[in-house]
Amino acid sequence: MRIAVYPGSFDPVTNGHIDIIHRASKAFDKLIVVVLNNSNKQPLFTVAERVELLQKSCESMEHIEIDSYSGMLIEYAQMKNAHFIVKGLRAVSDFEYEFQMALMNRKLNTEIETMFLMTCDRFSYLSSSMVKEVARYNGDISELVPEIVEKKIKEKLA
Ligand code: PNS
Repeated sequence: MRIAVYPGSFDPVTNGHIDIIHRASKAFDKLIVVVLNNSNKQPLFTVAERVELLQKSCESMEHIEIDSYSGMLIEYAQMKNAHFIVKGLRAVSDFEYEFQMALMNRKLNTEIETMFLMTCDRFSYLSSSMVKEVARYNGDISELVPEIVEKKIKEKLA
């Protein structure tokens, strides 16, 4: 069974993430989307809220599992018997950081490959931080996130 892990902060999940989940799910028997801690970020949503938003946004998709973990990604992938980590790449600016993480994860476990999917062009400017920024100023985020996420951001920032 080909199992892959798609990790991220997902604070909150955007249509860019959904596109990657949808496309990656076709390449593996099982795709586990896992909410992890990014020590450089201060999240707006709790882990439980982020998991719930992912679950609701992906409920129509097959071969997907949503989970969270408070430790290291590579440890989690090993525990789940996943041999692949999937990441999305939006722009050259993502590359250096992602490259460093992929190399570090390979150093920690050579059996687990990181694979990158190029973002769909219409989501190349999209990030959770941008979505939160636009929402803070009451901008229209309806085309950037699933409906449930739009509703929850508005409640959170009200
Ligand atoms: O969506 P993000 O914030 O870019 O995702 C980054 C994330 C959460 C995947 C990364 O910070 C991570 O893997 N955190 C878990 C801790 C870990 O394994 N750190 C070592 C990375 S080389």
